Amino acid sequence: MNASNGQYFDYLVLGSGIAGLFFALKASQHGSVGILTKKHRAESNTNYAQGGIAAVTSKHDSFEMHVRDTLNAGAGLCRESVVRKIVEEGPDRIADLIELGMRFSEREIPGFPGEIELDLGKEGGHSHRRILHAKDMTGREVEQALLAAVARQSNIEILENHFGIDLLTTRKLGMDGDNRCIGAYVLNSDTGEVSTYASKAVILATGGCGKVYLYTTNPDIATGDGVAMAYRAGAPVANMEFIQFHPTCLYHPKAKSFLITEAVRGEGGTLRTVDGNAFMERYHPMKSLAPRDVVARAIDNEMKRSGADHVLLDITDKPAPFIIDRFPNVYSTCLGYGIDITKEPIPVVPAAHYQCGGVVTTLDGETEIPGLYAVGEVACTGLHGANRLASNSLLEALVCAHRAAARLGAQDLPKPPSRLPLWQSGRATNADEMVVVSHNWDEIRRCMWDYVGIVRTQKRLQRAETRIANLQEEIQGYYWDFIVTADLLELRNIATVAETIIRSAMVRPESRGLHYTLDFPQTDPSWATQDTVLRRKPV
Ligand code: FAD
Ligand code: SIN
Repeated sequence: MNASNGQYFDYLVLGSGIAGLFFALKASQHGSVGILTKKHRAESNTNYAQGGIAAVTSKHDSFEMHVRDTLNAGAGLCRESVVRKIVEEGPDRIADLIELGMRFSEREIPGFPGEIELDLGKEGGHSHRRILHAKDMTGREVEQALLAAVARQSNIEILENHFGIDLLTTRKLGMDGDNRCIGAYVLNSDTGEVSTYASKAVILATGGCGKVYLYTTNPDIATGDGVAMAYRAGAPVANMEFIQFHPTCLYHPKAKSFLITEAVRGEGGTLRTVDGNAFMERYHPMKSLAPRDVVARAIDNEMKRSGADHVLLDITDKPAPFIIDRFPNVYSTCLGYGIDITKEPIPVVPAAHYQCGGVVTTLDGETEIPGLYAVGEVACTGLHGANRLASNSLLEALVCAHRAAARLGAQDLPKPPSRLPLWQSGRATNADEMVVVSHNWDEIRRCMWDYVGIVRTQKRLQRAETRIANLQEEIQGYYWDFIVTADLLELRNIATVAETIIRSAMVRPESRGLHYTLDFPQTDPSWATQDTVLRRKPV
C-alpha cells in the first residue's frame, strides 16, 4: 500500500453534510479549508432529511416555548443554557441559509390574498408550528444550496472518496509539548493510498451511527466514524445510550431505510394497529404527536402485543391534492412500492435514526483535545439530553458550525510541522477474510438490534457486550495484518461505537428518554443531571 504526505489546509473538515459545509463556508473567511468526504459529496444524512429545521420565526411562537419543548423532549437531561443559546441563535442562522440560496416552502397568508409567508410544519413534541421545510425534501435542498455556495468559494476544496481513518495528535506521535490535534490519516478509496493530512485544526462533521443497527433510516455513510476516531484519540464521548428510534420507517420488503416523515403526523396522520384501531391515546395526551421515544416504545409494545410485524400510519382522511403537494417524495416513493397513501394507510416500523450522544463539545464545537472540533450529529453539546426534539438536529448543526468557525477564526493557531509520519499498515490481502468482514458487519448490526434496541435489559446488554468484545478482537487482527479498505475501517468503527452504546447503557441504572430498561423501569431523579461519559486511553 502506498503512503504519502497529503495536502495542508488551515482547517481540515471531515464530512460534507450540513455541519461540514456550513462550517467550511464560515471558516473560509479565516483560512484555507479542505473538506474530505468518504463518498460522493452529497451523500450524507443531511441529504435525506425530510421534516425540516425547527426555529422560531412566527409571531405566534416564542423562544421560551421552543426551549420548553426541547427540555420536555430531553427528559431532564438537556443542558438548559445550551438549549437557550441554540434556540435563540436559530433565526439568524436560518437567515444565513436563505442568503446562501436555500428556498423554504411558502404559503399564502390566510385572509391576505397575494401575501406570502414561510409555511411552518409541525412534528412530535412541538407545541407550535415552527418547522421550516422544503416540502418533504428539506435535506436535499439544504445540501444542494450549501454545495452550490461552497463551489463559489475559491479557498474551499472538496475531496470525494477520502476516508478519515484516524486523528493525528502530538501525543500519539510522541511530540513534545501539550497534546494537540494536527491532522488525520486519510484513505483515498479510489487509489488505495493513505495520506497524512496536516492542519491547524480538524473538524469532525462525520454525522451519526444509524448503521450500527440492522434497521435504520440512515444511509450507508452513517457508521459513527467520528465518534470512533475521537474515542480512540482519547476524547470523552457522552450519552451514547440515547439512540433515537424514529417511529415511522416504511415497512416493505424492497424498501431500504425509507423514512415517513413525522410531518405526516403533524398534518393529521394517525397511528393505527393493523386492525385499524388508533392506539396512541392510550400512551400520551399528545397522541400520535407525542415525543419520539414515547411513540417508538408504544409501537414496539403494540407490535409485541399483537404479533404483527408493523403498524399503520393513516393520512387518508386528508384531501389527495393536499397530500401529493405537501409530501411529494413520500407519496411518489410509496407509490413506487404499490402503496397509494391518499387511499390506504402506510405500513411502518420504528428504526434507528439519530445519535443523541457523541463527542463531548462546548457550544463552539471544542472537544477536550485542543485543535479537535466536532459539529453536527457527531457531537454531544447538551442540546438533546435523553431524547432529541424533532428537527432540532439541523438547527444545532447550523448554530454550532457557525460558532466553531467564529471561535477558530479568532485564534492564532500554531501551524503543524510540514512533514508528519507516514501511515504504516499490514500488507496482506485475502478474499476469504473479506467475506468475514461482511459477516461481522451483519453480526454486529443484528446483535445491536436484538439486544440493545428500544427495550433493554441488563442481561441482554451483557450478552451484547461479550459478543462485541469477541468481534473487536477479531477485527483488530485484520486491522493490523491487512491492507485497509473502507469496509474494514467502517467495521472497526461500528464495533467501537457499538461498544460505547452498550457500555453507556449498562452504567445508567434507570429509564430515561430513549434509554428504557425493564430492570430499572423508573426514572431516577439522582441521575437527572448526570451524563454518561466514556473515555478511552488513546491508541
Ligand atoms: P451528515 O449529514 O450525516 O454528514 C456526514 C458526512 O460525513 C457525510 O458527508 C459522510 O460521508 C462524511 N463522513 C462520515 N465518516 C467519514 C469519514 N470517516 N471520513 C470522511 N468523511 C466521512 N434532522 C432534522 O433536524 N430535521 C429533519 O427533518 C431530519 N430528517 C431526517 C431524515 C432522515 C432520513 C435522516 C437519516 C435524518 C434526519 N434528520 C433530521 C437528522 C439530520 O439529518 C442529521 O442529524 C444531520 O443531517 C446530520 O448532519 P451532519 O452534517 O452532522 O452529518
Ligand atoms: C422527520 O422528518 O420525521 C425527521 C425529523 C427529524 O429527525 O428531526
